[in-house]
Amino acid sequence: SLTKAERNIILSMWGKISTQADAIGTQALERLFASYPQTKTYFPHFDLHPGSAHLRTHGAKVVAALGDAIKSIDNISGALAKLSELHAYVLRVDPVNFKLLSHCLLVTVASHFPADFTADAHTAWDKFLSIVSCILTEKYR
Ligand code: HEM
Repeated sequence: SLTKAERNIILSMWGKISTQADAIGTQALERLFASYPQTKTYFPHFDLHPGSAHLRTHGAKVVAALGDAIKSIDNISGALAKLSELHAYVLRVDPVNFKLLSHCLLVTVASHFPADFTADAHTAWDKFLSIVSCILTEKYR
């Protein structure tokens, strides 16, 4: 789990990220579909061209869910319970894809806030995103 210092890093950077949440979510998805095109198979019903309305709406939803997790940083599994059921039972997203999206979110945050993205911040975000991914895939077991 996250240390107190890691929580503080996440919470303080979230203050900045939340003001650009939609752009960050959209860019993370654009990186996901460009670098790992196999992930596009989960979105046959979306227009996945860069900047499309589907990408922007979905990117905003993904980052808003991260915000819900951060607001409940002491009870992330409670905050994401519904999303966990959706991804496991309805969407059936293969867990490997969560590593790919987490990486794209990490790179996007780093590129938006290079001065904040110290090695400690990198570690904190990497841990946070892996906790979120574990929760969203735990129902598979
Ligand atoms: C839907 C969050 C990972 C595929 C959603 C929704 C949210 C979300 C908030 C909308 C739920 C709703 O409308 O009620 C997240 C978060 C992730 C994650 C926080 C990890 C950090 C993934 C991955 C994939 C994926 C890795 C597949 C590559 C989908 C699909 C939908 C969806 C196909 C339904 C889209 C639609 O038809 O509107 N996700 N997701 N998700 N997610 Fe995820």
